[in-house]
Amino acid sequence: MDASRLPAIDFGNLVAGVLEGSGMEPRRLRGELAARFRDAHAEVEARRKTGEAGFFDLPRDRPLAARTRRLADTSARRCDALVVIGIGGSALGAAALRDALLPPSWNEPDAAARGHAPSLHILDNPDPDTVSALLARLNPSRTLFNVVSKSGTTTETMSLFLVVWRWLEDTLGAGKAKTRFLFTTSPERGTLRQLATRWDIPALPIPDAVGGRFSVLSPAGLLPAAAAGIDIEAVLAGAGAMARRCSTPDLARNPAGTLATLLHAADTEMGASVQVFMPYSDRLRGFAYWVRQLWAESLGKALDRAGRRVETGPTPLPAFGAADQHSILQLLMEGPRDKVVVFLGREAPGEDVAIPALFPDSPGLAYLGGHTLFGLLDRERRATAEALRRAGRMNMTVMVGRVDAHSAGALFMLFQIAVVYAGALYGVDPLDQPGVELGKTLTRGLMGGSGHEVPSIPPPDPRWRV
Ligand code: PA5
Repeated sequence: MDASRLPAIDFGNLVAGVLEGSGMEPRRLRGELAARFRDAHAEVEARRKTGEAGFFDLPRDRPLAARTRRLADTSARRCDALVVIGIGGSALGAAALRDALLPPSWNEPDAAARGHAPSLHILDNPDPDTVSALLARLNPSRTLFNVVSKSGTTTETMSLFLVVWRWLEDTLGAGKAKTRFLFTTSPERGTLRQLATRWDIPALPIPDAVGGRFSVLSPAGLLPAAAAGIDIEAVLAGAGAMARRCSTPDLARNPAGTLATLLHAADTEMGASVQVFMPYSDRLRGFAYWVRQLWAESLGKALDRAGRRVETGPTPLPAFGAADQHSILQLLMEGPRDKVVVFLGREAPGEDVAIPALFPDSPGLAYLGGHTLFGLLDRERRATAEALRRAGRMNMTVMVGRVDAHSAGALFMLFQIAVVYAGALYGVDPLDQPGVELGKTLTRGLMGGSGHEVPSIPPPDPRWRV
């Protein structure tokens, strides 16, 4: 696969002389920002070499990809529906791959239209309305449940696992539940790994050095993707090509470095602490939600790596073109100058739809005839970027050719590498997430988890209620 198929970043609309008003001085990109990035790159390289940032190595892990492919192929033959049970990093990658690479109507009931590949459902939120509605639609003897949890202990995921286990025992008979599960979890630790051994449930590993939100290219994302027929080898090839492209410390040639350096400077020097990720492709909606988690959990930190209190991190905000031009654009154009927009565009759609030339005597319709829906959507992206530029509002565009398996793999890798560079630039550890622990511990306590005290949470005070 050639590098020309890799995503590229157009950042002119951030640069002084292009952006109306004040923008980034080009000489800074060649000078101090390039030097700052070289340091960040060196720090990330050091962590990559110690094996701490394991996501870098996934595209080259052929044995793991082959195991994933084998289990996916045998599983696909055993089911009409595959349900991923997981949350956070253990669900968002699979959802992003599904949205990007399967047809939008994939889960409609017509199995023949899918070539008899399984439908692919993601159960992340333990909302009883959603769970009961999904189970009511599934045939238990033709459904497999892929429970994904790196820790193998997450409360929401374990609760859903128990609900589904009971549902399978009730519908298929005692002893049958274990035949309908696949696990993706730690190679050695946690409840799921123990259950896999005890009940002989097929289980794939999320390597120890691969964190939850960096696990999309591990079996966490790739097992369900492959079972639904996605070309995971092409996803990994795209990711590997992007990792190679981003191996240089030269800012001008490193797209992940450019993304991280510009967004970091936009936040810390130019006041743009809100980073809007705005795809103009429904296929990239799941990707925008995946980026939100990647950015928020990696960069929102109380302490820097030296232990000093910094309380830092940009606020990632997904938005969707063109629909959200009718929702958030007014704020982006005229509200506080605390935002930078990262558009995600593509050169070509999977399929296009012609806009017919009808009603030639109606000026409100006639000009549209002869165009296509992709032509419209893409012009809207370009027009919005230009409108923001003219209003002096910083924006940039990440462009892919088509949204396909190769470019999706490259995009995931681009943003994963960018966020670890950004972590180094902010001086924080992008690989941990200490801030989510307290809420998890309190929940376990409230649920009566062993080893957890029942926390005292004061009831709402009637004085402060209306
Ligand atoms: O990125 C992370 O580490 C988190 O979002 C986790 O993926 C999430 O909390 C789920 O954890 P686990 O995979 O252990 O169930």
